[in-house]
Amino acid sequence: MIQRTIRFHKLVRSLGVASSLSPSSKNLGVYRCFGTVASPNAEQASDPFEDSYDLDKHEYADVDWDNLGFGLVQTDYMYVMKCSNDGKFEQGQLRRYGNIELNPAAGVLNYGQAIYEGTKAHRKKDGNLLLFRPDQNAMRMKIGAERMCMPSLSVDQFIDAVKQTAQANKRWVPPPGKGSLYIRPLLLGSGPILGLAPSPEYTFLTYASPVRNYFKEGSAPLNVYVEEEYDRASRGGAGGVKTITNYAPVLKALTRAKSKGFSDVLYLDSVHNKNLEEVSSCNIFIVKGNVISTPATSGTILSGVTRRSIIEIARDHGYQVEERVIPVEELSEADEVFCTGTAVGVAPVGSITYQGKRMEYRTGAGTACPQLYSTLVGIQTGQIGDKKGWIVEID
Ligand code: COI
Repeated sequence: MIQRTIRFHKLVRSLGVASSLSPSSKNLGVYRCFGTVASPNAEQASDPFEDSYDLDKHEYADVDWDNLGFGLVQTDYMYVMKCSNDGKFEQGQLRRYGNIELNPAAGVLNYGQAIYEGTKAHRKKDGNLLLFRPDQNAMRMKIGAERMCMPSLSVDQFIDAVKQTAQANKRWVPPPGKGSLYIRPLLLGSGPILGLAPSPEYTFLTYASPVRNYFKEGSAPLNVYVEEEYDRASRGGAGGVKTITNYAPVLKALTRAKSKGFSDVLYLDSVHNKNLEEVSSCNIFIVKGNVISTPATSGTILSGVTRRSIIEIARDHGYQVEERVIPVEELSEADEVFCTGTAVGVAPVGSITYQGKRMEYRTGAGTACPQLYSTLVGIQTGQIGDKKGWIVEID
């Protein structure tokens, strides 16, 4: 505890931040912009550490850990790195979290030239932090940068930024079993450009927020709506990379579905309007007997880190996993459906509505979803030994 405090003060000194910023400082407010509040029976609500975890032994921000959803809670620091004209990223640095200044003609503001990532840090019982496969996010950002004509930082630079952001905001990482610190790396065209062309300058930013359940449903099954009017991605487009331009266009379908009481929207392929693609915020899996299927990522579907991890975990559990084209009709034959994503985790789907017909699925004990999710969360939180080299531990 003393050592951690000393380390924190060294960090604060190196940043030239006022000494009033102590780890236990309560004057750094918690701001919820929007988002969901976890329900009492939410996924991570059952706290396996409840009896043994001593909150007082750790330094925490002033957060109501039992009522975290997926709304922005501003933390202390963000990591900022600029890229010069030659495409090289300079040494990045931590800065106090806050607004950034952009030229009105910045590429990101005018032409949407930006990509982002999402990854999580969990707190172990001994206080150390665990990152989950940050190298996968780093590599995906490189692929996305190439598609969007942006320079990319190296895998090591990316992982270092994520580590520094997690460490500097450690007091915002929820207690074990109460959620995680969601870390959002963002690469944007920050230089001014009037004609349509790649931005002359780029900025890489990483910020973080403590989170728990993504959906207001908590761990309760989702009710999903199959969208037929709007597509998420098109052939030859950028649906397979995490560009910011994939997200605003789904808001129309998403808000319409939410206003009708649905949790999220499932999109079909834009060519035939008949094969499953993905949900606004996550990938989708269907289960039939011992076979688990998910749409193949062939350019229009995001290759989720959770998606790939669940495929591997499911195979370890003895399931046959298929990545293939899935016609929408197969939804009526599935036993079970679930979604995966960094923000979402692994969420059971209770019903899907397509062309006015509501199809219902098995959820809860004895289904694949909780079994696979508990293995994933076990690895992410250090309760299950990491035999795959997926975890990066930092103190
Ligand atoms: C994530 O899962 O990290 C995402 O980027 C989804 C986003 C809609 C919150």
